[in-house]
Amino acid sequence: MQIAQILKQPNLGDHLDVCGWVRTRRDSGGFSFLEINDGSCLANLQIIVEGDLHNYEQVVKKLTTGCSVKVQGELVESPAKGQKVELRAAEVDVLGWADPETYPLQKKRHSFEFLRTISHLRSRTNALGAVTRIRSALNFAIHRFFKEQGFFQVHTPIITTSDCEGAGEMFTVTALEQAELGKAEGFSQDFFHRKAGLTVSGQLQAEIFALSHSRVYTFGPTFRAENSNTSRHLAEFWMLEPEMAFCDLQGDMQLAEALVKDLVTAVLEECADDLELFDRFIAKGLLARLQAVVDQPFEHLSYDEAVKQLVTSGKSFEFPVSWGSDLQAEHERYLCEEVAGRPVIVTNYPAQIKPFYMRLDDGGKTVAAMDILVPGIGELIGGSQREERYDLLKERMEAAGLSLEEYGWYLDLRKYGSVPHAGFGLGFERMVQFVTGMQNIRDVIPFPRTPGNAPC
Ligand code: 4AD
Ligand code: MG
Repeated sequence: MQIAQILKQPNLGDHLDVCGWVRTRRDSGGFSFLEINDGSCLANLQIIVEGDLHNYEQVVKKLTTGCSVKVQGELVESPAKGQKVELRAAEVDVLGWADPETYPLQKKRHSFEFLRTISHLRSRTNALGAVTRIRSALNFAIHRFFKEQGFFQVHTPIITTSDCEGAGEMFTVTALEQAELGKAEGFSQDFFHRKAGLTVSGQLQAEIFALSHSRVYTFGPTFRAENSNTSRHLAEFWMLEPEMAFCDLQGDMQLAEALVKDLVTAVLEECADDLELFDRFIAKGLLARLQAVVDQPFEHLSYDEAVKQLVTSGKSFEFPVSWGSDLQAEHERYLCEEVAGRPVIVTNYPAQIKPFYMRLDDGGKTVAAMDILVPGIGELIGGSQREERYDLLKERMEAAGLSLEEYGWYLDLRKYGSVPHAGFGLGFERMVQFVTGMQNIRDVIPFPRTPGNAPC
């Protein structure tokens, strides 16, 4: 039986089989106390082994941190502080030994930097174990939220021939050998007969389905070959992208705010023990801050207002700000941490710094874009209303240097039954960072991929 299940509804007197990994062993007065953890919850189960058990000297007394065991025993009330129940062992079998001379996870606290060097073992620690459970809970809550709101999930391709963000940050996918790649005929000889890459966003394909099913979302791995070594960038990350037909920027912002609040509520309710660990050891005051996110409306600022706030702040930023420049993480964090003290939705960015698909505002200088910035992180969500007017979209695509032949299908969506539509992308790892308070994005994804780093 899983430890989470036992501790949730303990039935004293039950005879149980429990498996897990030994966290600690302590011997005292002819007994041994084993703390075992099976990853199902933060708490360990305490096992009491009496000295007259048949394999006490040969096995139990040799158990060390990291060994895997199977224990049979009776669940009894625990006389000691710290836990309500414990298992009185009738049988202890070792499934796998862990040599204490070389097992890297000893009882002391390890730095996250060190744990990154052992990505095959770090999920056995309290903090990374909690991240794993919270990530899973968030994943499930996302699907529940969209199902309840009438959305269909669409699986958009991982290999694609369209560069959604137009930022040239795609990893190329090729079946050619190095020598063939250099030849003049190039990609026409390649597997797809044209240049293909790993997707930077499923949005363009999600738009196809929004324009047939009204409300859809795609949620999957996304790849960016940008050389950013920061605590909030990965080369492979998960992005959630809803797309809604018959929807404008207002509706887009409403959905995004409702989603963030719903996800925070879900983890507050379902992951209380794990969140408490982060509140105590990683990000003091986290629980109160998360509750405030749920209770307060998000702040709204236009890009114009945001730039004014930044210019008149009197702060010396590393990157100077003026109208037309993109907001950097330091600006985003100033706006939500110091100006608003809560999540902020910044809208109507200059057209020149945003991709071709965003709907041009009246006046032609700005687009119907919105970013949600959150304390501690900066940009969590980026979205927009899409340009649904054929002529205007065509102009912007031409200006962006896109081939109208290759993106003809995207223009077709504006030619046949075009409708106002909108959507956004939420960076899943940034969401996990936001609810856990974990500083580095590499510690909230099981296998982080960053420049120079893809160990297993
Ligand atoms: O703002 P972005 O680039 O937007 C898009 O890709 C749109 N096509 C989304 C849409 O409208 N459907 O990315 C969306 C979010 C960002 O706000 C950020 O949270 C996350 O994805 N993100 C990253 N997360 C980790 N590592 C990276 N390198 C990221 N780049 C973006
Ligand atoms: Mg963005």
